[in-house]
Amino acid sequence: MIQLEAVSKTYEMAEPLTVLKGVSLEIADNEFVAILGASGSGKSTMLHIMGLLDRPSSGSVHFRGTNTSALSDDDLSRVRGESIGFVFQSFHLIPHLTVAENVELPLFYLRAARRARRDAAMECLGAVQLGHRADHLPSELSGGERQRTAIARSLVANAPVVMADEPTGNLDTKTGDDIFDVFRRLHEDGRTVIVITHDVAVANRIPRTIKLSDGEVVEDTGPCS
Ligand SMILES: Nc1ncnc2c1ncn2[C@@H]1O[C@H](COP(=O)(O)OP(=O)(O)OP(=O)(O)O)[C@@H](O)[C@H]1O
Ligand SMILES: [Mg+2]
Repeated sequence: MIQLEAVSKTYEMAEPLTVLKGVSLEIADNEFVAILGASGSGKSTMLHIMGLLDRPSSGSVHFRGTNTSALSDDDLSRVRGESIGFVFQSFHLIPHLTVAENVELPLFYLRAARRARRDAAMECLGAVQLGHRADHLPSELSGGERQRTAIARSLVANAPVVMADEPTGNLDTKTGDDIFDVFRRLHEDGRTVIVITHDVAVANRIPRTIKLSDGEVVEDTGPCS
């Protein structure tokens, strides 16, 4: 499904900053993976590269058998739109669109009909217990509700791969458990699910864990059968 080969990422600054250092790993179809590591260890950077939101400085990324370095930015966006639902650490909701419109957005880009978009959005908002806030603006939501909106948006296009950066980070235990259940069900339904978490209790319930330290994989419980 996703294969990283000697992936490094260096941010060009006055003093170049290498935040991923030769990461190689493979994630198979329908795996459920947790990414762990201290703040600043490179988790978000690695997930953005896996999610085709960013390119590595060196090394290669294969997504479903295709070497992505050969793809143009447009091709990359298309593959991403069709195949990957992404929950950003900072949500990235559009402030002037309602909750339902934000959730519909990936389907808008895939040119789905208005009614189908709305129905799918409402179904995903139901899955994160947020149907009653469909017509609110993001500024009228709590932090946890914004997070759940971002999760609903990642589910709406039925992408085979869902990636989430700290999806339970700002939530109370009960809501965090509900969100975890959403991801568990996605995995059971056959999707590939990759989540970053600081929460060891959450990670312990996920079959495979990959731990980063200072831009390197220091632990990988390996592909699960
Ligand atoms: N655009 C950028 N330019 C320069 N440095 C960056 C950039 N983005 C991230 N970094 C640096 O790269 C390192 C890794 O960042 P990253 O966001 O991947 O960490 P993280 O493991 O997700 O941390 P957290 O748990 O706090 O979210 C950090 O030290 C960060 O300051
Ligand atoms: Mg991060």
